[in-house]
Amino acid sequence: VERFEKHLFVCTNERPEGHLRGSCSRCGGAEIKARLKACVKKSGLQHQIRVNSAGCLDACEFGAVLVVYPEGIWYGKVTPADVAELFQTHLLNNQPVERLKIPDAVLSELSEKSSLERFGIQIRDAASNSPEKPR
Ligand code: FES
Repeated sequence: VERFEKHLFVCTNERPEGHLRGSCSRCGGAEIKARLKACVKKSGLQHQIRVNSAGCLDACEFGAVLVVYPEGIWYGKVTPADVAELFQTHLLNNQPVERLKIPDAVLSELSEKSSLERFGIQIRDAASNSPEKPR
């Protein structure tokens, strides 16, 4: 049973300044969430569209990141300035905003990388040549 027609999870994870992985809060995550919630409220669709904060969605290199269910569409490099278009185009008119989508092939790569890390196989960061810091 789907309780909401659209359920958005906006990463608002915060890491310290200068952290190797960055964080969506430093890319406008909280502002994006606040603007989306304001759009929902203004449109009177609070019972159809839900916007929630999420912790790290493990796609930090694409921050700020959000995902829309039930479609399972991931958006990356989103800025607060993109919110009006996302709301109008995707949430009201069911058309994904292609220019902000994280491509499926990239999402598959991210999943593969996460699986390797789960089994204790560390991916080296190309820039520092040292293992990534834990989340
Ligand atoms: S900090 Fe947002 S996806 Fe990791």
